[in-house]
Amino acid sequence: MRVAVIGVGYVGLVSGACFAQFGHHVHCVDKDPQRIAALCAGRMPIYEPHLDALVADNVAAGRLTFGTDLAAAVRDAEVVFIAVGTPARRGDGHADLAHVFACCRDIAQAIQGYTVVVTKSTVPVGTGDRVEHIMRVVQPQGAFAVVSNPEFLREGAAIADFQHPDRIVIGTQDERARAIMTNLYRPLAEAAVPLFFTTRRTAELVKYAANAFLAMKIGFVNEMADLCERADADVAGVAYGIGLDRRIGAQFLQPGPGFGGSCFPKDIQALIKSAQDYGVPSRIIETVAAANEQRKRSMARRLIKACGGSVRGLTVAVLGLTFKADTDDVREAPATSIITALQDEGAEVRAYDPQGMDQARALMPDIAYATDPYSCVAGAHAVAIVTEWSAFRTLDLARLRSRMAGSVLVDYRNIIPAAEAAEAGFRHVGIGRRS
Ligand code: NAD
Ligand code: UGA
Repeated sequence: MRVAVIGVGYVGLVSGACFAQFGHHVHCVDKDPQRIAALCAGRMPIYEPHLDALVADNVAAGRLTFGTDLAAAVRDAEVVFIAVGTPARRGDGHADLAHVFACCRDIAQAIQGYTVVVTKSTVPVGTGDRVEHIMRVVQPQGAFAVVSNPEFLREGAAIADFQHPDRIVIGTQDERARAIMTNLYRPLAEAAVPLFFTTRRTAELVKYAANAFLAMKIGFVNEMADLCERADADVAGVAYGIGLDRRIGAQFLQPGPGFGGSCFPKDIQALIKSAQDYGVPSRIIETVAAANEQRKRSMARRLIKACGGSVRGLTVAVLGLTFKADTDDVREAPATSIITALQDEGAEVRAYDPQGMDQARALMPDIAYATDPYSCVAGAHAVAIVTEWSAFRTLDLARLRSRMAGSVLVDYRNIIPAAEAAEAGFRHVGIGRRS
């Protein structure tokens, strides 16, 4: 099949490369010529494990191409995926659909034969109706269907998530579009992945409900972590104990500094806004959002407390700037809130991240950056591990400690065994257990 993908970010590029791997011919376009130039030169505009090899293989096989001409891409395609960003709208937190609407006008102008236009971007319930309306104004007689096919991949595990999903959700009541989408996903259907066909509005809401539910699990375990610290219990045991119950499930119960990223925070805000628009209170998810914001803001406090109540004039080394491991994405990362709070309290911050330094430099130009964890902690009074990169799990703790002026280690992801940290001479503070 001939597929066009609009937007070569985390979702568009991964989806495009994976559809090409299924055997389809995929042309990806983006309005950012630098991103396209990088791809044409064999460089990835984002960091995602194994993506470079997948892209290179499919480019070499002639199934994956890149360009900036949206009209040309759409003219030739049977299926067009919209995978542009839907960030929080400035001012009210609703999803900003400007990028989606901008490209659906361009798509409408370019389509020729029957075309399935798919929103893969995360969009509020009812957006498909608006996309269809905009396209009908441009092309009243155009032969097309607007379908919702939300994406559930995670950054850092995006290729595996795309190739082995728990389900594919497709919102359409157009029989021709249904047949085309079934063909598109045939390799997954043959691998027993359920294709769940539903209405467009239901599909749109499945996406927000899934993210909100996952965020709620994390918010819940973080609340349990706070209780464990006071009640002298261990949150790892509580999470394991409840996760064994199959009705609860073991995943997404890892306590930490609060969830971040380009999706959970903005998607739960957008869901709250949609619910308000429909006059429906969403108290549970409003509480999850507020508790998470509060948590991220308060996380610096445990480091300040471990330093004796003040960090004024002290140097703090921050290991991990991305919102999670295995990505270069620093959007809404807990590290940003922690660093800002530490700076506000008078600390000098030096930071290191295996992949997130370029994005972090643009966001936080006023902190010092190190080239590796050991130079990052040199002369520091405290070290904070904020992202669970595997390189941080295997740090030589004695070497780390010997380079520092102080002994505080705050492990916001519980990746360092407390006993090993103590043996290396650290005063170790974790999450969800008495330190
Ligand atoms: P991103 O910001 O990484 O990439 C978006 C890309 O779209 C950019 O390269 C941008 O230049 C391009 N773009 C914007 N407007 C365009 C236009 N009019 N024409 C052509 N290109 C245009 O975004 P992302 O993280 O890939 O997210 C895309 C969507 O997918 C969002 O709605 C997001 O909520 C959703 N989503 C993201 C993830 C994730 O893990 N990042 C997972 C599931 C769903
Ligand atoms: C999340 C969802 O997991 C994806 O299914 C969804 O497609 C995506 O959002 C999206 O809509 O964009 P992502 O944000 O890439 O994916 O990463 P997650 O692994 O979900 O982590 C999100 C945040 O929660 C991170 O800050 C992470 O550290 C935190 N987290 C996650 C925890 O604190 N504990 C956990 O147990 C899991």
